[in-house]
Amino acid sequence: MRKIIVAIDGYSACGKSTTAKETARILGYRYIDTGAMYRAVTLYFLDHHVALTNPKEVDRALEQIKITFRVNKEGRSETFLNGLNVEKEIRDMRVSENVSQVSALPAVRHAMVEQQRRMGKERAVVMDGRDIGTVVFPDAELKMFMSADILTRAFRRQKELLGRDELVDIDSIISNLLKRDELDSTRKESPLRKAGDAIELDTSHITVEEQVDEVVRLALARILARKN
Ligand code: DC
Repeated sequence: MRKIIVAIDGYSACGKSTTAKETARILGYRYIDTGAMYRAVTLYFLDHHVALTNPKEVDRALEQIKITFRVNKEGRSETFLNGLNVEKEIRDMRVSENVSQVSALPAVRHAMVEQQRRMGKERAVVMDGRDIGTVVFPDAELKMFMSADILTRAFRRQKELLGRDELVDIDSIISNLLKRDELDSTRKESPLRKAGDAIELDTSHITVEEQVDEVVRLALARILARKN
């Protein structure tokens, strides 16, 4: 059967990763969370006090960073930074507050995009992020662009943080999401934007099951389509 790339882009906290993970599980594909890669780089930069304005320091730090994914016993993909499981730490607010600045650096993007392209070389992947359909895999067979209204997104993110015992007030979450939207969409290097051939999916009023059904349905149509 034909193997495809499913690219899922969109704003923060629209349900991209939940949808991507479940779609990958149903299709038997690999799930790659590119946001986790930028978060892991950010964690390293914060812990090692890397000056973002010093290109040499940034390059040197990037040479020291190895990001890998491993599937845990429950079947969930977890992020490892230089062999250490950082899945929990990379979701902390301190990382969320700095990740857009770090991921705007051209050197960081080049290093991550190169690794993402390697991971998707054999296709059969579902990759979520901001520039997957526009930059990483402009030839992806299925491109989705997800959005949702800001309150829905903020409540979802708050619930997710609460699940990890982190209580953050809704105003701080809204301001973090809006700030990241702004930085992610206006940066020079591969800004967040909808690819011309991406299919829009507004998740404000639909359930996770409905989101997944829609993406799986579209993916299967492409998998079963005759190659031309
Ligand atoms: O998907 P996320 O919220 O975990 O992503 C964290 C940040 O990483 C997001 O604010 C922007 C950046 N990012 C990016 O620039 N490009 C990607 N492909 C994925 C994420």
